[in-house]
Amino acid sequence: MAFEIVVLVSGFGSNLQALIDAAKAHPDQYRIKAVICNRPQAYALERARQANIPYFTICAAAGQTRESYDQQLNQQLETLQPDLIVMAGFMRILSAGFTEKWQHKLINIHPSLLPKYPGLNTHQRALDARDAIHGISIHYVNAEVDGGPVIAQAQLEIKSQDSAETLAQRIHELEHQLLPAVVLAIATKKIHYNLAHHQVTFLGDEIQAPLSLENLYRAKSTD
Ligand code: GAR
Repeated sequence: MAFEIVVLVSGFGSNLQALIDAAKAHPDQYRIKAVICNRPQAYALERARQANIPYFTICAAAGQTRESYDQQLNQQLETLQPDLIVMAGFMRILSAGFTEKWQHKLINIHPSLLPKYPGLNTHQRALDARDAIHGISIHYVNAEVDGGPVIAQAQLEIKSQDSAETLAQRIHELEHQLLPAVVLAIATKKIHYNLAHHQVTFLGDEIQAPLSLENLYRAKSTD
């Protein structure tokens, strides 16, 4: 049976689309069992509908506590029993109880080279700091916002003419390559999370630095 993932989204869903396209290209390796979204107007839901993927909208009610929202999310995930949960632009902070429970199968994509710039407005913060390099990280999720062991990163050079908008566009291009590559590597057991030691292993060895797209492609070509 194919490895089953659930994708959590909040917005445009271009990373969800990259995952949909990769799943179509590798139907024997993973399938998207469902999409869960916290915003009813998100275009990501239209992408799920077009791809015939079941989707669920779980909106936070006014005054609802984080814990209560996460319980609802947890219930849906309990029903779905995914092998992996992918936060692909899911813009909610998760409670410690939730992350504790799912941390062994919960990954997030974040638009910065963590540990730099957890949180929001990462492109503008990289520009304001006059960074030469910016990038993206994919990591297992723990209770710390944008914390948790980093699995893979990809980077780009910031050009003098870059704005937050041009960076966002170039960052998205990197994300659309790296995220499906990481999901495929987890689905095919090349990447493993050793929860007891909070260590990520790749092809059996603990990683000493975040994996690159080249690492992942090289491992794929030896299949
Ligand atoms: C992506 O750039 C992702 O890295 C970011 O939201 C965007 C979603 O784009 N996530 C975060 O900032 C989480 N901290 P998309 O909806 O087009 O996939």
